[in-house]
Amino acid sequence: MTGWNTLKRTGFAALITAAAVSPGLAANAGHGKELALQWCSTCHLVSNDQDTVSGASLPSFFDIARDPGFSEDGLKTFLADPHPKMPNMTLSNGEIADIARYISSLAE
Ligand code: HEC
Repeated sequence: MTGWNTLKRTGFAALITAAAVSPGLAANAGHGKELALQWCSTCHLVSNDQDTVSGASLPSFFDIARDPGFSEDGLKTFLADPHPKMPNMTLSNGEIADIARYISSLAE
């Protein structure tokens, strides 16, 4: 567990930094990360600087981002619809777009 976390920590930190400084993005991946840590991290592993996750069997956001079927638009649709097994989340369209952009930034 520690080894894997260390690997992710070093590998993805650079990636997130690169995404954060990319110019001209309407959605804000940095804000999306904050929202993900706030709203999603109780169940999903959403970030390499998150230490614990309760629903370890759920797909992490890294898994979701690398799924060949993943798209930001698909995720926006998914989050706009109430997700039965998720707590009642009231996210605005802008917040959803930020989260989708953040997850998408984890894919490379
Ligand atoms: C209370 C726990 C919980 C929280 C909080 C939660 N999720 Fe989930 N999420 C789940 C469960 C459980 C599933 C699996 C649902 C299923 O398989 O039917 C899931 C599935 C998903 C999937 C589909 C993954 C796949 O590959 O099928 C996505 C995308 C997702 N969640 C995104 C999010 C996002 C974004 C947030 C925060 C805004 C979030 N989740 C917060 C429990 C949660």
